[in-house]
Amino acid sequence: MHILHVVGARPNFMKLAPVVHALDGFQQIQQTIVHTGQHYDRNMSDVFFEQLGIPEPDVNLEVGSGSHAFQTAHIMLRLEEMLIKNSPDRVLVYGDVNSTVATAMVCAKLLIPIDHVEAGLRSGDRTMPEEVNRIVTDRLASLLFTPSEDGNENLIAEGVKPEQIHLVGNVMIDTLVRMLSKVEGIQLSVPTEYVLVTLHRPSNTDDLEVLHEILTTLSDIASDIPVIFPIHPRTRSRLSSINFDVTAHPKLNLWDPVGYLEFLYLQKHAKLVITDSGGIQEETTYMQIPCLTVRENTERPVTVTMGTNMLVGQNMATLRSATREILQNGRTKHGQIPPLWDGKAGERIASILVQQGI
Ligand code: UD1
Ligand code: UDP
Repeated sequence: MHILHVVGARPNFMKLAPVVHALDGFQQIQQTIVHTGQHYDRNMSDVFFEQLGIPEPDVNLEVGSGSHAFQTAHIMLRLEEMLIKNSPDRVLVYGDVNSTVATAMVCAKLLIPIDHVEAGLRSGDRTMPEEVNRIVTDRLASLLFTPSEDGNENLIAEGVKPEQIHLVGNVMIDTLVRMLSKVEGIQLSVPTEYVLVTLHRPSNTDDLEVLHEILTTLSDIASDIPVIFPIHPRTRSRLSSINFDVTAHPKLNLWDPVGYLEFLYLQKHAKLVITDSGGIQEETTYMQIPCLTVRENTERPVTVTMGTNMLVGQNMATLRSATREILQNGRTKHGQIPPLWDGKAGERIASILVQQGI
């Protein structure tokens, strides 16, 4: 059986790694990795292949950046040509990025079964581009691998047949479990106590007034405790358009994005994480680090109901007071690790794929 994986953006790589490694154990499976080139900076792409031991992509479609339609269309055009030449038996897609949905649409029309890893997540918020990507991808997928029970419930409610849905657990946590022991080998110069921040959602970065308000709040927080903010290229590109002088706030440390191991180190030792990332809500839940999410909703509700995550929305007064409370009282919320977030999701996916045969 020839399985072709398509990935393109940073969070895809952590999800791909455990599936590729688990499928490696089966002689009858041939694997091809296609990178769309959605993310291309070394510290947004290559570093993850190296640190996670993922084989180099067989093909890079080199689509680069652009509007949603531009990026999705270019992936579709280049991938269609490639798939016609390669004719895989199944294609695996990951998460909710433009590379995911573009692949799903091409495969559906070429009648190649696509399987979705991290299916069923819903924020209910269609202003998020990822929500559109999730809905379309799940609608077109043959096998839907869900990370948590809410994913199954969402898919059943949308009319997906129960036999297509497989609750396998969280592949992102597989990678975390495998890499956690390597973290202490990392050398990073950080203060003893700090708050870690990441932000890249268009809702927080593309409205320059909102971004200015968030940065002002972060610089207030930085007057109490150093803030380390490895800044996503989308967010970095907006900084020059707003009137915010980062040099005036020396304790607000803006770093370039860091590698996976470095970022795990930063999370593990942080007093608190402030983020709008999907994956980081999950990783902090697993590591039981307090997490404040600067979003009105989440497609990962289990991180709030069971984990250490709390939604603060875009209300900066709430962000300030919740931060203060966590810094003063330590962990306010002792989380549990959701079922099947146990490092074995990739193996479950591999064994289901192998049972499919051709
Ligand atoms: C994308 C995903 C988002 C995911 C995020 C992970 C979509 C719709 N969005 O958002 O779901 O959470 O990746 O990080 O697929 N850029 C660079 N170098 C790079 C990549 C991007 O400079 O290697 C800059 C470009 O200016 C680009 C901008 O970042 O226009 C945004 O990149 P894009 O891939 O369109 O969206 P992300 O915000 O990264
Ligand atoms: N991450 C990283 N370096 C960074 C920031 C994040 O390695 O500087 C990792 C993080 O640990 C998680 C993943 O990137 O595994 C999350 O990706 P991102 O926040 O870009 O996307 P999302 O999960 O929101 O789609």
